[in-house]
Amino acid sequence: MRRVQVCIIGAGPAGLLLGHLLRAEGVDCLVLDRQSPDYILGRIRAGVLETITVSLMERLGLDARLKAEGLWHDGFQLADGERLIRIDLADLTGSRVMVYGQTELTRDLMQAAEERGLEIEYGAREVALHGMEGDAPHVTWTDANGAQQRVDCRFIVGCDGFHGPSRKAIPANAGKGFERVYPFGWLGILADVPPCHHELIYASHERGFALASMRSETRSRYYIDVPAGEDVANWPDDRVWDELALRLGPEAAAGIARGPSIEKSIAPLRSFVFEPMRYGSLLLCGDAAHIVPPTGAKGLNLAASDVHYAAEALTAFFLRNCDDAVAAYSQKALSRVWKAERFSWSLTRLMHRDPSGGPFERRMQLAELDYIASSRAAQTAIAENYVGLPV
Ligand code: FAD
Ligand code: DHB
Repeated sequence: MRRVQVCIIGAGPAGLLLGHLLRAEGVDCLVLDRQSPDYILGRIRAGVLETITVSLMERLGLDARLKAEGLWHDGFQLADGERLIRIDLADLTGSRVMVYGQTELTRDLMQAAEERGLEIEYGAREVALHGMEGDAPHVTWTDANGAQQRVDCRFIVGCDGFHGPSRKAIPANAGKGFERVYPFGWLGILADVPPCHHELIYASHERGFALASMRSETRSRYYIDVPAGEDVANWPDDRVWDELALRLGPEAAAGIARGPSIEKSIAPLRSFVFEPMRYGSLLLCGDAAHIVPPTGAKGLNLAASDVHYAAEALTAFFLRNCDDAVAAYSQKALSRVWKAERFSWSLTRLMHRDPSGGPFERRMQLAELDYIASSRAAQTAIAENYVGLPV
């Protein structure tokens, strides 16, 4: 019979980071994912890392490529359709963020797995969790060859995203979800053209939201909001570039270099928190437990802070025979999660045109942006949340 100390479900950033942190402490674990590595690396998602995420990679000694290729950003811009309002992260908080794609971070973690003795099994179908209410849970699945598999463990950690089986395995009376679904999604394009500005621009325009981001000095990532349920086929590249130029405002528009999109997709926007983040021998981390709308660039970074707390708790359990940190995990993680939810929700409300809102709501947004432009206190509140609250 196969046995490990921890079975991690999901090889996204949460599962891989946790696996490496536990392996570094000598904790024995197995990571299962239903997809292939190529499929996982094909998903274009987050682009902005907080220092907590960078420092976990440093601690693992997996920061060489991130340090060489990542771009430190000392600030970012808010736009109201006409002007740019700079949020000077470095001056306001003494901290900054790094632009480095989630895809690249995931690749670094995947590539180091073999050398660090982290076992990952891809193509695991019908993953099911059993016995989490006790202290001898197990996980079953069908492997890539169609054979039934089982692993026994002391803890299962659900890092399997919003749609994965872990959260769903918790009985309905043992937890509660809190949710807000937004009436718009983000249409994103990736293109091999230089960014229109050296910093990210989040724009709140009469016509809707736009974000100018980047992956490098030669690769740009842009987003606009579109109605929920919109078909990406309605958005040929030229229409996206035209809309971006209007929404980002004249200064940014002048810097836009157009080019063919190499990826284009629409992501729905949602706020969601599941409480508690532990059920017996099952811990939840990352998108399995919560979703934020992408406006504050918090999703991946929240996954990293959950993993930081979970690794601390599981290491204390296995190395020091102490279960207090496992008992405290959910409360500790949720206290940071709710603050990131609040920030992402409030920035989403400030920057997007809700179809049910009218001219009054638009005036409120413009007044708030004007206030932010004139108040160091307001800028500091945004900057503190954007660089990431303390762990
Ligand atoms: P995931 O990355 O979703 O990984 C879950 C893993 O579980 C996957 O590999 C999946 O294959 C696996 N899995 C699922 N079901 C099963 C199953 N049944 N069996 C086995 N395995 C399973 N966040 C930021 O911090 N900054 C940003 O700038 C940002 N921008 C974003 C932009 C977009 C367009 C999107 C969509 C998201 C963005 N996010 C951002 C959010 C961020 O991408 C997620 O929060 C992050 O991927 C969460 O990591 P995770 O490991 O928890 O989940
Ligand atoms: C990116 C995504 C975000 O959600 C965000 O807030 C900033 C940047 C990006 O993909 O580059």
